[in-house]
Amino acid sequence: MALLTGRVAVVSGGGGDIGGGIARRFAKEGAALAICDLSLEKAEKVARQIRSDGGRAIAIAVDVSQAEQCEAAAMQTVVEFGKITTLVNASATVSPDGNVEKIALADWRRALDVNFTGMFLMCKYVLPHIREARGGAIVNIASSHGHFGLPGRSAYCSTKAAVMHFTRVLAIDYGPENIRANTISPGPIDTERSLRRYGTRENSNRVRGVGQVLGRTGTVEEVAAAAAFLASDEASFVTGTDLLVDGGQTSFKGSSLERYGS
Ligand SMILES: NC(=O)c1ccc[n+]([C@@H]2O[C@H](COP(=O)([O-])OP(=O)(O)OC[C@H]3O[C@@H](n4cnc5c(N)ncnc54)[C@H](O)[C@@H]3O)[C@@H](O)[C@H]2O)c1
Repeated sequence: MALLTGRVAVVSGGGGDIGGGIARRFAKEGAALAICDLSLEKAEKVARQIRSDGGRAIAIAVDVSQAEQCEAAAMQTVVEFGKITTLVNASATVSPDGNVEKIALADWRRALDVNFTGMFLMCKYVLPHIREARGGAIVNIASSHGHFGLPGRSAYCSTKAAVMHFTRVLAIDYGPENIRANTISPGPIDTERSLRRYGTRENSNRVRGVGQVLGRTGTVEEVAAAAAFLASDEASFVTGTDLLVDGGQTSFKGSSLERYGS
């Protein structure tokens, strides 16, 4: 029996690597998908792929920082599929690096608007539909960088820490209505986004993977497996928690040199 048979899931950032991977896995598990993304082209690509594999998916252009667009996306999903049971928030903007003096106020605000307020808005407009479906699950994508800081990335790291605490309170508020809410904190995952930062897959693995507990970076499919678990009844007593999918990154305080020698 597939894990998500009969579910209807909205995935924000669903055109991206991790969001797209989650959407594809959910489709394999029997869910219908509304792929929401700032880039309609990227969302369409994921939706087309799911449909060509025999699944059900639509693509919706949404800037999650815009309340009316989030509300319209929720409505469009219900019109198309009749209900919503599941929400995954995977969208995030790319923020320029720099310490507090160097970060432009506009970049700071954009990080908060997309990574944090966007999650709030998607929850705000999707939750009434999950309630109407008599329960469901929300999976918010945080980051291992919400657990520990990185130089020059206060905007990103702070929004990811905020996502975790927001989700705990969400779980408390909606638990009585049979709506579970959890976060996933991915560690170093191989995606285009990380390739843009680290140049090549080899360099990404050298910088982010080799010094980690499992000695490698993770895959989109490994994050998607965790999301499928949290969205499904297999996680029926799991709410208000954060699932680190980081290959042990957060537990390992050493450096690659200590572990492997120079
Ligand atoms: N890649 C990693 O190693 C890693 C590690 C930890 C956490 N994460 C988190 O996982 C999530 C997905 O990351 P990814 O690596 O797949 O990146 P990605 O850039 O491929 O995906 C992010 C998606 O969000 C979309 N987006 C950006 N702004 C938006 C907006 N205003 N409204 C709607 N959509 C918008 C982008 O178009 C993109 O498709 C992010 O929340 C990221 O912070 C990634």
